Amino acid sequence: MGNMETVGLTLEQFAAKCHDFIKAEPGPAGRKKVCGLLSQVLADEQFVAKYVDPNKDERHKLYEDPEFGFVILAHNYEGPKVSDPHDHAHSWAIYGQARGETDMNDWSLVSAAGPDKTGKVKHVRTYKLTPGVAHLYNEGDLHSPSRDASTKLIRIEGTDMTKVKRFKFEAV
Ligand SMILES: [Fe+2]
Repeated sequence: MGNMETVGLTLEQFAAKCHDFIKAEPGPAGRKKVCGLLSQVLADEQFVAKYVDPNKDERHKLYEDPEFGFVILAHNYEGPKVSDPHDHAHSWAIYGQARGETDMNDWSLVSAAGPDKTGKVKHVRTYKLTPGVAHLYNEGDLHSPSRDASTKLIRIEGTDMTKVKRFKFEAV
């Protein structure tokens, strides 16, 4: 899957290309290019072995962009888990599968969430993220990952979500 241009990319080169894509097109179009490039580096066995496999933390920051604030994260998720539907507030995110499988669900908004109000969402579809698959979630795109076993991912967040307050959603 990786081509001549992306095979052998270092993390620093990958991050620099992501930066250039976002700089050229700050909206969904630039992120879509980041998503495509992420898919290619995830198909590069050497990249995954070097930057993803050694990480034992659930959330490990590989890179934070000084100009745009996006973060590239390596995730090591142990054991099965079902997550609740959520969005990333005013941010976007890209999920890229490196090892194992994620069952991803998309949801549509039924009623909005607020600081003291749980939003309501309706299930739309379920699809698999397998190694080398990356998916973009723009602002407000509701989703919920689940897994039957351990996984490893690279995720890119438009901003560091550990510093952002999120609202809750429930399925109806
Ligand atoms: Fe998410």
